Amino acid sequence: MAYSHRLAFCFLISAFSFFFACAQDRQVGDGCEGCEGVYEYGNRKLNAVDTLPDFNDKGPKMLVTGTIFKKDGKTPAKDVILYIYHTDQTGEYPTKGNETGWGKRHGYIRGWIKTGADGKYSFYTLRPGAYPGRQNPEHIHPTIKEPGYSAYWIDEYLFEDDPILSKHEKDSQPGRGGKGIIKVTKDKNGMQIARRDIILGLNVPGYQ
Ligand SMILES: [Fe+2]
Repeated sequence: MAYSHRLAFCFLISAFSFFFACAQDRQVGDGCEGCEGVYEYGNRKLNAVDTLPDFNDKGPKMLVTGTIFKKDGKTPAKDVILYIYHTDQTGEYPTKGNETGWGKRHGYIRGWIKTGADGKYSFYTLRPGAYPGRQNPEHIHPTIKEPGYSAYWIDEYLFEDDPILSKHEKDSQPGRGGKGIIKVTKDKNGMQIARRDIILGLNVPGYQ
């Protein structure tokens, strides 16, 4: 086989493998607008820790950390990608103008984590501002992509000490991936620490 033919053949095989790998993902959740953002990390090599682009801006510094478990709630889950994005201090999803894909809507304050064998994840960021008008509580949007399943959203990160977080809102969270309302503490340097463990597939429709 000529070199160019071999190259074309290899390309076809790779394309087919990619297609079938994706096609084999079990479809879960009930729609997930913007979940494709989970794939938009470009050529970055992901690991268990990320620092979001706003971390050195002015505002309350925060570490969000926890463990991602399998559905049994106790086995750490590896190779899980967690994609998060949130507003800036003014409550907007800020853009720089060069965003592509879902970055145009989600803004540039976003990050990606991939768990190792211990399932742990952490990201450093600023605590987000509530939307202008302050009708909605401060929140961080998370999307999960784990091997073998389509990407799905889980409960937003919400903060127990947020004065805008109403009882109604607290009570109406679906509990996807476990409870997303987190208690915030401070370390000795004044950094806010928010701990949340995630249970894969919990309360996610179609997940087995
Ligand atoms: Fe939002």
